[in-house]
Amino acid sequence: MRMYDIIAKKRDGGVLTQQEIAFFVQGFTAGAIPDYQASALLMAIYLRGMTAGETAQLTAQMAHSGDTVDLSGIDGVKADKHSTGGVGDKTTLIVAPIAAACGVRMAKMSGRGLGHTGGTLDKLESIPGCGVTLTREAFFRQVNEIGLAVIGQTGNLAPADKKMYALRDVTATVSCVPLIASSIMSKKLASGADCILLDVKTGSGAFMKTLDDSIALAQAMVEIGEHNGRRTAALITDMDTPLGRSIGNSLEVAEAVETLRGAGPADLTQVCLALSTNLLWLAGKGTLEACRAMAEQALQSGAALQKLRQMVAAQGGDAAMIDDPARLPGAAYTCDVCSERDGWIGAADTEAIGIAAVLLGAGRETKESVLDLSAGIRLVKKPGDRVQKGDVLATLYANDAARFAAAREKLCAALTFGDAPPAPQKLVLARVDRDGVTRL
Ligand code: URA
Repeated sequence: MRMYDIIAKKRDGGVLTQQEIAFFVQGFTAGAIPDYQASALLMAIYLRGMTAGETAQLTAQMAHSGDTVDLSGIDGVKADKHSTGGVGDKTTLIVAPIAAACGVRMAKMSGRGLGHTGGTLDKLESIPGCGVTLTREAFFRQVNEIGLAVIGQTGNLAPADKKMYALRDVTATVSCVPLIASSIMSKKLASGADCILLDVKTGSGAFMKTLDDSIALAQAMVEIGEHNGRRTAALITDMDTPLGRSIGNSLEVAEAVETLRGAGPADLTQVCLALSTNLLWLAGKGTLEACRAMAEQALQSGAALQKLRQMVAAQGGDAAMIDDPARLPGAAYTCDVCSERDGWIGAADTEAIGIAAVLLGAGRETKESVLDLSAGIRLVKKPGDRVQKGDVLATLYANDAARFAAAREKLCAALTFGDAPPAPQKLVLARVDRDGVTRL
């Protein structure tokens, strides 16, 4: 079998066999297939798509490309939550502590930023000392003791995805249903949770731009999860506007803490409560109504904030920063972006806002990029807000002031203004579980 022939077959719209998919995944993982051939196949898949059967084969091969985790050493129901990626999406830092405070075990393996979207590991690393690698024993012990741990993929968990994810990030092959579904579900299957809640983002800042594509991605992933014996559900949530007001790693940690204190932005709080409710429901904690009440109580009582504090301390981080996020390392320079007109902020190109944050150093431009963990954007005004000429729209943060000009230009071009308020957007647009799709 030759990689060249597999690339050509997919380029011409063919359906790959199980053997061909196995040849690619195993060869690429072992280093026998170079990045340039893998990139060519990824682009061919991006352009030609995959059947449900090919996607299932790809997921299975990726899930078994390394170790699989047996979580039976952790007591109780083990749950996982995964976002398809968005701008300002710090929901894991809020939802995982809420679930843990309600007695669900969150043994969570998260990812890094991808393209214009942020990643939980980068956010956690912005807390000085907070590690994201634990031995398996330490990971189990921490989850048994405090109910949650968030770490990176262990060295050999779905290594095929680790390599493909890094390559897709820099070859414009991210936003593709079979590649996202197999990437996410291979890691979820390999990491062993009993139930999986998927947050499928939709809109201008998501990899899936339309509701129909997002529902298709959610259905593909729910099908893979349930087929493999994991209770799986998905919420389709809005990413036409950045979630919350902060974009960038330490800025997002501070906003997550604010939200756990009950003083966070309304959109972020509502999305996190919806996700927590569904996670608790999947874990068998009761009806959706009862789970909603439990999640609200965990937030209001401070129990969820206490879980985040315990987790950060257990992973070596300075928990004083959770008590006072103003102590998180800040950027050396700031730059205000002001409105040049009166009006209402209408639609935002949220992907472009994410790219503006990347230009400031908050995300990666190449596989080797070193992040500026305190760089980012604080949106003072958001779509739906009224502004007057001269009002501050956003504050940019960076440790290299030379980055401001390009980021400012990108951000300004991403915002549109109108003379009337835009129609309000729903935050949760649909719910998908094994019984079907409910548009909300
Ligand atoms: N998140 C993942 O884990 N994989 C993708 O492909 C996209 C988002």
